[in-house]
Amino acid sequence: MDVKLSSTLASILILVYITLTVKVLNWVWFLPRKLERFLRNQGLHGNPYRLFLGDMKDLLTVMKTEQPKTIELSDDIPPHILPYYQNIMAKYGKRSFVWFGPSPRVNIADPELIKEILTKPGVFHKPLPDPIGETIVGGLLFLEDEKWAKHRKIINPAFHIEKLKNMIPAMLLSCSEMIGKWEALVCSSGNSKEIDVWPYLEDLSGDVISRTAFGSSHEEGRRIFELQKEEVKLVLQILQFCFIPGWRHFPTKANRRMKAIKNEIQSSLRVIINRREKGEIIHNDLLGILMGSNFKEIREHGNKDVGMSIEDIIEECKLFYFAGSETTSSLLVWTLVLLSKYQDWQARAREEVLKVFGKKEPISMIWGDDVKEFKPDRFSEGVSSAANTQFSFIPFSSGPRVCIGQNFAMIEAKMALAMILQHFSFELSSNYLHAPFPIMTMQPQFGASLILHKL
Ligand code: HEM
Repeated sequence: MDVKLSSTLASILILVYITLTVKVLNWVWFLPRKLERFLRNQGLHGNPYRLFLGDMKDLLTVMKTEQPKTIELSDDIPPHILPYYQNIMAKYGKRSFVWFGPSPRVNIADPELIKEILTKPGVFHKPLPDPIGETIVGGLLFLEDEKWAKHRKIINPAFHIEKLKNMIPAMLLSCSEMIGKWEALVCSSGNSKEIDVWPYLEDLSGDVISRTAFGSSHEEGRRIFELQKEEVKLVLQILQFCFIPGWRHFPTKANRRMKAIKNEIQSSLRVIINRREKGEIIHNDLLGILMGSNFKEIREHGNKDVGMSIEDIIEECKLFYFAGSETTSSLLVWTLVLLSKYQDWQARAREEVLKVFGKKEPISMIWGDDVKEFKPDRFSEGVSSAANTQFSFIPFSSGPRVCIGQNFAMIEAKMALAMILQHFSFELSSNYLHAPFPIMTMQPQFGASLILHKL
């Protein structure tokens, strides 16, 4: 009897061992080799697959060597921000692939192919959301098919230009506060002062999204923004090990802090949303408009399933913060850096602002051979006419999944830039080190020290 039991147990263990071994071998070797054959048969080229790590070791080594370097403002950016991809493309051409551990990632640099991919989201699905990245960004950005269409329909009214107009006073308040802080600093040392503008711009976009998304609850919103900033830094640490299955469940310091932050953000948002549900919905901030639109959808169909759940609304609010802050602050910081270098364009931009608004608050309202020139007037006939082909310049993406916050971001950025130009002239400090680097968005690694002169 005992002998029978132990031989059955031994057989089960051997079976489990064989099954696991086959799964692991398939994951780290057979599947990647099969994918590699598919890719090569389709005319794509890249390094041969190397067991488990693929290109990761080389990629991290190249990134770590390149990241601390500074470059000249006139230098080409891609070799600095995406050095490994540049090496691969130089070696294998525009249709190439890179191994992220056992998964290949395809590089597409041909505007026609980019167009095809972006206009057919039903065919070219987004990669499965990374469980680590998804902690900070969920919602619309990662949804697909019917659920994406449902959320996009409910959220769209919040970004309608008429609704955005109501948010201009809130944006103005945030811009005025930043200008006030700069004025105080400049005046404290005569008429000019060197300021690293990057942290102020990061703060500005966080403040704008807090006010426009949460209205009267914006102080609670600010705390969420701070927590999300910390989360992004932690995600970058954790992502280096993302190809190790289950890494995010290891009780490392970073993983434990991530969990605590996630819980704090969820419960803060739940409190804000519950408060709105109990009281009257306020229709002039993003959350209010979104909740109003959700109730309308549910009422019209008489079915709760057609609307978004509280969990869904929480995810969308988290996305507003993430998508709406780093992006716009990066747009503004690089604009200021370039206008500092090209003083003639700074003067032209100021002239235009003064012609339209005077000193009043601004409330009334890729490419050819010259690609590497700072030439803002290429946009004078509109963004779509700026490049040789329409799909060469797509900062907000394109197709059905184009950025929903494009108008929001442009209103905020134009208002902030107009007010900065009205109050200050600026130039690059000799302490400025040019080191654009991609950390989700492209950020100035060593800040953006400008000398501000009060006008
Ligand atoms: C300069 C500022 C901004 C830039 C350059 C930008 C860029 C983009 C890009 C490239 C995408 C497509 C991403 C993808 O398909 O994987 C996107 C999507 C999105 N953006 Fe923005 N964005 C900006 C500002 C904003 C703001 C201010 C908000 C909201 C407050 C926002 C909300 C969103 C949302 C919700 C999506 C997902 C749309 C969908 O999948 O249907 N963005 N953005």
